[in-house]
Amino acid sequence: MSDPLAVISLHQDTPELARTYEQLGVIQFNHGKLLLEPLALKPGERVVDVGAGTGRLAEFAAHLVGPGGRVVGIDPLESRIAIARLRQSSNLAFDTGRAEDLSRFGEGEFDVIYLNSVLHWISDKRMVLQEARRALRPGGRIGLTIQDPTAPHESRLLLRRAIAAAGLDEGRLSAHGVYAATDDELRSLFEQAGFVGYQSELRTLVETHGNVDELLGWSESSAFGNFLDSFTYAEGRRIRAAFAELVEAHRTPEGLRLARYLRYAFARKPD
Ligand SMILES: C[S@@+](CC[C@H](N)C(=O)[O-])C[C@H]1O[C@@H](n2cnc3c(N)ncnc32)[C@H](O)[C@@H]1O
Repeated sequence: MSDPLAVISLHQDTPELARTYEQLGVIQFNHGKLLLEPLALKPGERVVDVGAGTGRLAEFAAHLVGPGGRVVGIDPLESRIAIARLRQSSNLAFDTGRAEDLSRFGEGEFDVIYLNSVLHWISDKRMVLQEARRALRPGGRIGLTIQDPTAPHESRLLLRRAIAAAGLDEGRLSAHGVYAATDDELRSLFEQAGFVGYQSELRTLVETHGNVDELLGWSESSAFGNFLDSFTYAEGRRIRAAFAELVEAHRTPEGLRLARYLRYAFARKPD
């Protein structure tokens, strides 16, 4: 991919995708609760949820910091922020904005910044970490989850096979995973941005989906319009049909069981 910046678009989301994400993004919410555990938010702390989506995890964080704390969620997608705003309260606010530009926040304004399933959508990771470091107070904590290129999600592998089964070139598959980062890459990015105490762990997260439409709806809405967008509508239908057949191998009495792999990474700004 010669111009990775051109790969992921922030202009293809729709209100419908945002509503679907609000229903099905409970998966990311559960992964996000595992991210917040080690960050150990305390009452009174000030927190930014970068790439907050429809705001479910930020709402949970707001309960943890309590009435004396404050959580701000930002996301570039207006339809998602519109839903997130329905969650606003005295200690929880949302606004549109990108991770690469936190200039609206003062230096050292926050105790904790986190990004849950967001950084693999962003190419300029250096800028994201630089901005986060500036907005954190000395000793402030950062945590994030990100896909690892060496451990693609099972659904991603199935999608590649489905594209081939549909007689199409899987090289045309854009987006998801393109900006994933290895542990070494992350460690070096954190160090270059001036963070200390980097720690990470690759976790396996097994999810059960009711049916293939739910699984595809989840993938589509998580990708805010970047899912199979490099294929025509007719090609997309063929890929989905092939995917529906292949995913049957993952059926259990509870539904379609698929493993995902996310790296959980943590660091702090020096005191
Ligand atoms: C899979 S969703 C995760 C949403 C939310 N963090 C959650 O846990 O439900 C990925 C989110 O990353 C956001 N995102 C993509 N590029 C971004 C950027 N440059 N800055 C901030 N957020 C971004 C998208 O708008 C989307 O809401």
